[in-house]
Amino acid sequence: VQHECFSICVFGASGDLASKKLYPALCSLHFQGFLPSRVIIIGFGRTKYTEAAFRDRLRKLLLPSDSCPTSPPGFPGSPPGVRAGLQLLRVGSALQTTFKLTPAHVESFVERCTYVMNDKQGSASLQGIFDHIKSHEEANADAKAHNRIFHFAVPYSVWPEVCQWLKEKNDEFPNNGCIRLVLEKPFGRDHQSVLELINTVDKYFKEDQVYRVDRYLGKEILENLLVMRFANRFFAPIWNRDTVNTVQILFKEPWGAEDQNRMQYFDLQGIVRDVIENHLLQVMALIAMDKPASLSVEDIRNEKIKLLRSVKAIRKEDVVIGQYTPGNGHPGYLEDPNILGKPSTTPTFAMMVVYIRNERWDGVPFILKAGKALNEMRSEIRIQLKSVPGDLFQGADLQRPNELVVRMQPTEEMYLKMTIKKPGLGMEIVPTEMEYSDSAKDMQDHSQAPHRAYERLLLNCMHGENRRMVHRDELLASYTVMDPVNKMVDNSAVPLHHYTFGCARAHSFDC
Ligand code: BG6
Repeated sequence: VQHECFSICVFGASGDLASKKLYPALCSLHFQGFLPSRVIIIGFGRTKYTEAAFRDRLRKLLLPSDSCPTSPPGFPGSPPGVRAGLQLLRVGSALQTTFKLTPAHVESFVERCTYVMNDKQGSASLQGIFDHIKSHEEANADAKAHNRIFHFAVPYSVWPEVCQWLKEKNDEFPNNGCIRLVLEKPFGRDHQSVLELINTVDKYFKEDQVYRVDRYLGKEILENLLVMRFANRFFAPIWNRDTVNTVQILFKEPWGAEDQNRMQYFDLQGIVRDVIENHLLQVMALIAMDKPASLSVEDIRNEKIKLLRSVKAIRKEDVVIGQYTPGNGHPGYLEDPNILGKPSTTPTFAMMVVYIRNERWDGVPFILKAGKALNEMRSEIRIQLKSVPGDLFQGADLQRPNELVVRMQPTEEMYLKMTIKKPGLGMEIVPTEMEYSDSAKDMQDHSQAPHRAYERLLLNCMHGENRRMVHRDELLASYTVMDPVNKMVDNSAVPLHHYTFGCARAHSFDC
């Protein structure tokens, strides 16, 4: 793709996702030489920026001043008011930690970026996007191909209108290259609305032009999970109900929904739709699926879909939800000005037990747990094995079941918890950890910056590689699993517990 011409349009360019993930990822790709030289990045947003003001904003975002704190600010402890602003600094700091970006690097990226303000009714503003595309393609008429990528970091309510308009414009000004749409969650509210939206997008674009992003699928460690499971002999015999006791998939964040400056979005979604329905279910599918026939997109996807279709309907008694209250100097969820006045029952914590109805996993609980405003940032998979039968070491308190831990946040790592004899004359049994340390340094590097997963996904999209994207059937299968839970939550059929901001354990449930 290096000799091809690219027009990348970011809808929602002044929003949270674009600031925190997309632009940093694009800048980082540019810095590493992965962005083709003939690229233009057209931001489209509602915030009033001239092109110069938008570029200035990007400079500040990507290259924070030296005074910028390098440890993550905004964690419990910092005043709530400054948290949203600090989020942006965190992005620049992360980029700085990973690469030594200089103002010259950032400048050469920023020069490729332009901005179109969404200030008119209907599609009139959108015309500005095509003006840029046309002049960029004309200026690069000798390129082998002229590709157009449209990234939707905007609510799905506007997708039909934008898709229709894009279809008309692309037909009016045909290109000799690809046209791809990158779609970001939420993809709808439930199975029915997701299906309707898929069908609407389908009217204008083919499924292979649509790239649905789940950022977890871009994480280095999840790629490794596939290799680890299927390239090693010793996991296959134990990867089943005979040996595995429980599988836990956890997601904990120490900041509340307000920290992300997107309370209105979160209040509509809640933690189940925000994190469990997509990221955690994708992780579960990768852990539990059978070995695919090959590494082709279709074969992996078919296994994931088969797995998701084997999930038993989740029962009311297997779901616990919660919402955070004030604590540790932080306001409670209900105190956020964006939802004040409404008695919101949106859960910020949820835990559910999922059972898979197949020969491999029947009876093994998969515990999915996600929450905001908890005591730490951690996201991981814990595969706990059954105890050793006929225990020789009775009375050895320290003997614990073996456990494989695959950690995604705050750093990516893997380790196996085992029991060994403590070196010495006695027979003392102690727990130990066998760490995957060979490339630990590489893995750390890969997990340093929050935009890393996006780099991989955006690059895939430029290369026309959709292996890490979510296919429509996968999406529908996930909503089939989560629809009953979302209904329970929406209809208050399960009690909403309360927990204190920053807690590790609350009421009768462990966060
Ligand atoms: C997003 C959720 O999809 O994932 C956020 O909308 C969450 O609420 C985020 O904070 C976590 O992902 P990452 O990549 O920042 O670990």
